[in-house]
Amino acid sequence: MQQYIQSLLLLLPFLTSVFAATAEQWRARSIYQIITDRYALPPGADLHSCNPGNQTWCGGTWKTVRENLDYIQNAGFTAVWISPTSQNYQGPRTPYGDPYHGYWIADATKLNDRFGTAEDLQALSAELHRRGMYLMVDVVVNNVMSLSTHPDLSPYMFKDPSQYHPYCPIQWGNITSEQDCWLGDLTVPLPDLNTQNADVVSGYSTWISGLVKEFQIDGLRIDAAKHVNMDFWPAFCGAAGVFCIGEVFDDDVGQASQWQGPQALDSILNYPMYGALVEAFAIPGSRNISALNNKIAQSKAMFKDTGLMGNFLEDQDLPRWANFSVDKQSLYNAMVFNFMSDGIPIVYYGQEQGFNGSGDPWNREPLWPSGYANTSTYQLMSTLNMFRNFLVNGNTGWLNSSMKVLTTTPYGIGFIKGDVVTILTNIGSPPQNVSVAVYTPFQEEIATTDILSCRQYVVGSNGTVVVSYEGGGAPAILCPDELLHNSGLCGYEQAHGSSRKAQVQMTVIVSSCNSSPVS
Ligand SMILES: *[C@@H]1O[C@H](CO)[C@@H](O)[C@H](O)[C@H]1NC(C)=O
Ligand SMILES: *[C@@H]1O[C@H](CO)[C@@H](O)[C@H](O)[C@H]1NC(C)=O
Ligand SMILES: *[C@@H]1O[C@H](CO)[C@@H](O)[C@H](O)[C@H]1NC(C)=O
Ligand SMILES: *[C@@H]1O[C@H](CO)[C@@H](O)[C@H](O)[C@H]1NC(C)=O
Ligand SMILES: *[C@@H]1O[C@H](CO)[C@@H](O)[C@H](O)[C@H]1NC(C)=O
Ligand SMILES: *[C@@H]1O[C@H](CO)[C@@H](O)[C@H](O)[C@H]1NC(C)=O
Ligand SMILES: *[C@@H]1O[C@H](CO)[C@@H](O)[C@H](O)[C@H]1NC(C)=O
Ligand SMILES: *[C@@H]1O[C@H](CO)[C@@H](O)[C@H](O)[C@H]1NC(C)=O
Ligand SMILES: *[C@@H]1O[C@H](CO)[C@@H](O)[C@H](O)[C@H]1NC(C)=O
Repeated sequence: MQQYIQSLLLLLPFLTSVFAATAEQWRARSIYQIITDRYALPPGADLHSCNPGNQTWCGGTWKTVRENLDYIQNAGFTAVWISPTSQNYQGPRTPYGDPYHGYWIADATKLNDRFGTAEDLQALSAELHRRGMYLMVDVVVNNVMSLSTHPDLSPYMFKDPSQYHPYCPIQWGNITSEQDCWLGDLTVPLPDLNTQNADVVSGYSTWISGLVKEFQIDGLRIDAAKHVNMDFWPAFCGAAGVFCIGEVFDDDVGQASQWQGPQALDSILNYPMYGALVEAFAIPGSRNISALNNKIAQSKAMFKDTGLMGNFLEDQDLPRWANFSVDKQSLYNAMVFNFMSDGIPIVYYGQEQGFNGSGDPWNREPLWPSGYANTSTYQLMSTLNMFRNFLVNGNTGWLNSSMKVLTTTPYGIGFIKGDVVTILTNIGSPPQNVSVAVYTPFQEEIATTDILSCRQYVVGSNGTVVVSYEGGGAPAILCPDELLHNSGLCGYEQAHGSSRKAQVQMTVIVSSCNSSPVS
């Protein structure tokens, strides 16, 4: 009885708070990023009237997101990141269009009624939790939006001039200037909050704590995080009480890594690795595998916790992968890297539909014209999620292990994380008479299966496995057969009660007790 009560008490925090997830809980997740306005339309709406070049609202809402979650959940994602929820600029159309993206904050304490009511947002949160998925909300703290460098402050949450930095254009490379001067430009200036002002610090803490509670938010994506003084974040994220991942738009590991840790944020979006993946895999491109190898080594040396980094190939600011790299296998190899290496995989909506827009606003295509088709990229993404969720829920320690590069060649890389060997190439789709030989720690003669092609690879002498590209440059993910039971992959049975779908509470409980996988 005593023991029973003790274990009940142990379970209690997990059962009562599905929301308010920690970094440790997010580590196991994979995230689908959407712009609320562009994800789904209400039934009966015109499917052909949205043109991203028009920079205006296309009609997506929190309700239409909620009504169309199957598409995300069936692909195996366990979290959804939505664009900012706060009220935006209310005035006439600007030279840069309307704030359909949600980043032009007016009064942060109000919701953006373009996207629905408080009840709609609560219902989205509740529906995600019912499915065992997490809600991540994008928040903008660094700045508000205005059409003037001397704005009327009455519409904003902070109304006193001392709560803002005076206007100055950013001098890039000067950190004080990057943090205190204004983003945007003279057409649409973004007034910069003085985040060292005590009222701003306490006002923001109260606000975020209330927002997270009211909508049971599980994690925050923080816009323009490096444009705020670093020491602002621990108190802000402490008040939020949830995982914080910041946008630190910087390719340099030395710079970017300073923003992860107790002095700053739980995690940041992995811009350094994004740059390396473009260098290594884009076609045409420099196809520089050593650059990727160097970036992996630097990341391991400098980031506090690579397992929490947000790995992505696209977002609302970057060109779509297909805009600069038209070969499908280039996307597939880079995508597999993001799921099988250290970090939290993030996929920006539409990548799975082959969207090809360049930067803002062309990379914010409406998703609906795709018909939410079950494309080959959607299927790859689903398989990757299914396998990663299986590894995460298992007891092989995959999640907490750190990736290790085994082999690099000018056209390929092999690495291991836990017991899984991933072999990637940048040769692209056309078949070539080349192969990549990887020396693994696997024992000679054990059978492994590439979970993408379901082809078996037997380990040769000295632990060697050889992947050849006579059929084109497809990625390979080799897992020892004995570990694939209950995975549901390649003909292996699926564990009862598990699926490619999310398993929030069970997962958390299992991993915290360190027992065997859910079955
Ligand atoms: C929207 O964009 C299309 C094509 O770029 C253009 O023809 C049309 O006039 C635009 N509509 C509005 C309302 O700006
Ligand atoms: C950096 O920017 C700050 C804030 O605008 C300014 O006061 C300072 O003079 C700049 N430093 C240099 C070296 O330009
Ligand atoms: C590849 O990247 C490495 C490291 O970043 C760099 O030193 C080298 O010059 C690059 N090679 C090519 C061919 O671009
Ligand atoms: C980009 O995508 C659009 C819509 O799917 C398609 O019509 C167009 O042909 C693509 N452009 C290129 C260059 O692939
Ligand atoms: C890149 O995007 C631009 C603008 O959306 C488009 O015109 C162009 O065709 C795209 N290129 C490719 C290769 O998809
Ligand atoms: C997509 O197609 C694959 C292959 O036919 C199938 O196994 C999978 O269930 C489909 N997924 C969805 C969500 O329909
Ligand atoms: C591939 O290369 C090997 C070794 O260079 C050669 O023996 C073989 O004939 C080649 N195969 C094809 C299909 O070109
Ligand atoms: C055996 O594997 C190691 C790496 O694990 C490699 O350095 C070595 O060259 C291999 N030996 C032979 C004989 O292939
Ligand atoms: C993974 O490591 C973290 C610390 O970095 C620890 O808190 C957590 O319990 C570990 N999880 C597992 C499943 O071992």
